[in-house]
Amino acid sequence: MPEDNMDKPNIVTCTAPVNIAVIKYWGKRNEELILPINSSLSVTLHQDQLKTTTTVATSRSFQEDKIWLNGKEEDITHPRLQSCLREIRRLARKRRNDRGTAVDSTCLSHKVHICSVNNFPTAAGLASSAAGFACLVYSLARVFGVEGELSGIARQGSGSACRSMYGGFVQWIMGQQDDGKDSLAQQVEPETHWPELRILVLVASAERKPIGSTSGMQTSVQTSCLLKYRAESVVPGRMVEMTEAVRRKDFPAFAELAMKDSNQFHATCLDTYPPIFYLNSVSHQVINLVHCYNRHYGETRVAYTFDAGPNAVIFTLQQHVTEFVQVVQHFFPPEINGGQFIKGLQVNHADLSEEL
Ligand code: DP6
Repeated sequence: MPEDNMDKPNIVTCTAPVNIAVIKYWGKRNEELILPINSSLSVTLHQDQLKTTTTVATSRSFQEDKIWLNGKEEDITHPRLQSCLREIRRLARKRRNDRGTAVDSTCLSHKVHICSVNNFPTAAGLASSAAGFACLVYSLARVFGVEGELSGIARQGSGSACRSMYGGFVQWIMGQQDDGKDSLAQQVEPETHWPELRILVLVASAERKPIGSTSGMQTSVQTSCLLKYRAESVVPGRMVEMTEAVRRKDFPAFAELAMKDSNQFHATCLDTYPPIFYLNSVSHQVINLVHCYNRHYGETRVAYTFDAGPNAVIFTLQQHVTEFVQVVQHFFPPEINGGQFIKGLQVNHADLSEEL
C-alpha cells in the first residue's frame, strides 16, 4: 500500500461560509455549465456565523452514492450534484494517472455518503446553495485527494458557490470561453483587508422563497430587456468601481454601489414577465430606514443589499453598529414583526477550514 494511501482519511468534515453579493449575479448564458451573463462580486462571511457543515465518507461497503441535507435524504441523481461528483472523480483519476500509482489510492472505486447541514434557514434568500455546494466540493476534494483550483467545479453546483471557495472580497469573473474554463472566482482582497466592515442580517422571513434563483433568473433572461442592458452596459463599470472602493476601503462608495446594484437587481425582477417579487413590506421599510438614517447624518453610514428573498443584509462600519442596531430594534421590535430576529455578523473570515 503506498504511503499516502495509509494516511488518506475516508471521512472528512468541512465547513464553508455564506457569501453576500454586492454586485449581483443574475442570469446564465449556459445553463448546464452555469456560465453567467455578467461578473459579480461578494463578501464572504466569517465561518463561525452562517455556514454549511458537510461530512463526506467513502467506504468499500457503501452500495451507492447518497446525500442527506439537513437530515433528509435527497436525490443524488440531481444533475448539479452529479456534475460536482463527476468532476472531482475525474480530477482524482487524473491525479492518480499522472502519479502513475498502480493501486487505487484515493478510494476512487468507493461510493460516497454525504451529510450536509446549514445553521441558517435553507432557501430563504440567504445563499444556502452557495455555502452548500462550496462545502460539498471542498469536502469531496479532500476525501478524494484533489487539490488546486476548485471554484470552477463549485460553480457547476450553483453559480454563487464559486465565490464561497475564497474568503474576504471575491469576484466571479464571467469568462469568455464556451467551455467555462475561464469562468472562475478570484480573491480581490483578503479577509484581513477591511476589519472595520460589519454585516448584519435582518431576517424578515425564514420561509422558502416562492421562486428559486435558478428558475427566476431563467425567466428574467428570457423576458427582461433591463437585465440585458444591466449585464452589458452597467455591471462591467460597476465591477471596476466596486473593486476600487473595496481596495480603498471607501465605505460611502462601496455602500452606494451595493445599494444601487441590489435595487437594479430587484428592478430586473420586476421587469421579468410575469414579475418576480422577492422583497416584502418589511424589506421596503428597511430600505427607507437606511436612507433616512444616512440622510440624518448627511453621510452614507449604512447600506443594504437583498438577494432572492426579503431578508436584508446590512453593511456598516464597526463604530455605527450599536446605534444602528438600536434604531432597527426601535422600529422593528421582535414582538410586532412576527418573531423576526436580528443577528450581528462580523467579516473577518478565514479560508475554508477542515475539521477532521
Ligand atoms: C440573487 O447561485 O443561487 O443570490 O447558479 O442557479 O444556483 P444558480 O443560482 P444562485 O443565484 C444567486 C443569485 C443571487 C445573487 C448572487 O449571489 O450573486
